Amino acid sequence: MLVHVPNLLSPEEVQYFVHRLDETEWTDGKVTAGSQSAKAKNNLQIPQDSQTGRELGEIILRALGQNPIFNSAVLPLRVFPPLFNRYDEGMFFEAHVDNAIRPLPGTGFRIRTDVSSTLFLSDPDSYDGGELIIQDTYGTQKVKFSAGDMVIYPSSSLHSVSKVTRGSRWASFFWTQSLVRDDTKRALLYNFDQSIMATRQELPDDHPAVLGLTSTYHNLIREWSEL
Ligand code: NI
Repeated sequence: MLVHVPNLLSPEEVQYFVHRLDETEWTDGKVTAGSQSAKAKNNLQIPQDSQTGRELGEIILRALGQNPIFNSAVLPLRVFPPLFNRYDEGMFFEAHVDNAIRPLPGTGFRIRTDVSSTLFLSDPDSYDGGELIIQDTYGTQKVKFSAGDMVIYPSSSLHSVSKVTRGSRWASFFWTQSLVRDDTKRALLYNFDQSIMATRQELPDDHPAVLGLTSTYHNLIREWSEL
C-alpha cells in the first residue's frame, strides 16, 4: 500500500530546510547502502552524524507525531532519525530493497524497517526525472509529489529513483518499525480507520455502531501488534 501524506511540512518549513541543507556538506550516498545497493546507488547525502541533519530530523519527527495519516497508516513503534539525500543532474538509484534491520545511531537498539518514507523537498517543476518508482502489489507506481508532501510504502517493495536529467531533487527519507509488521494487516487497519472516520461524520460518537466499530478496531490492533 502506497499512501500520500500531503503537506507534512509547510512551504515556510520547506524553505527553511532547503536553506539549512544548502549550507551543509554533502557526501557520497553509498555510506548507508548495503554492498549490493552501493553499486546501484549514485546520489549525495548529509552525513548521519550531522548536527543540521539531526535538527531538521527533529522537526520532521514532531510533524509526524501530529500527523493523523502517518499514524493511522504506519502505526509507528520506532522511527529512524530522518536522513537527507539529493540527486543532481545524472544521478539515480537503481532498483533495490532497503536493508531489513538497521542499528539506531547512538543507541544499542536496532529497528526492523517495515515502512519506508520519502519526504519531497524540491518543487517538482524544478527538476526532470527523479521519480520514485515503486513496484507495489498493484503494479509499478511512479511518484513525484509537491515539496512538503511525503509518500509511505512497504520497505519490502523493490524501488528505484530514475535519473535526474535537469535540476536537482532533494528529499528526506527514513524507515519506521510498525506495531503491525504485516503490510496486508496494516492496510486493512488503515482502511478500517478511514471508514470509522467517515462513519463518525454521519453518526454521533455514542452511537452503538460507532462504538462497535471503534472497539473492533482497537481490539484488532491489540491482536496484531508487537511491542
Ligand atoms: Ni531505498
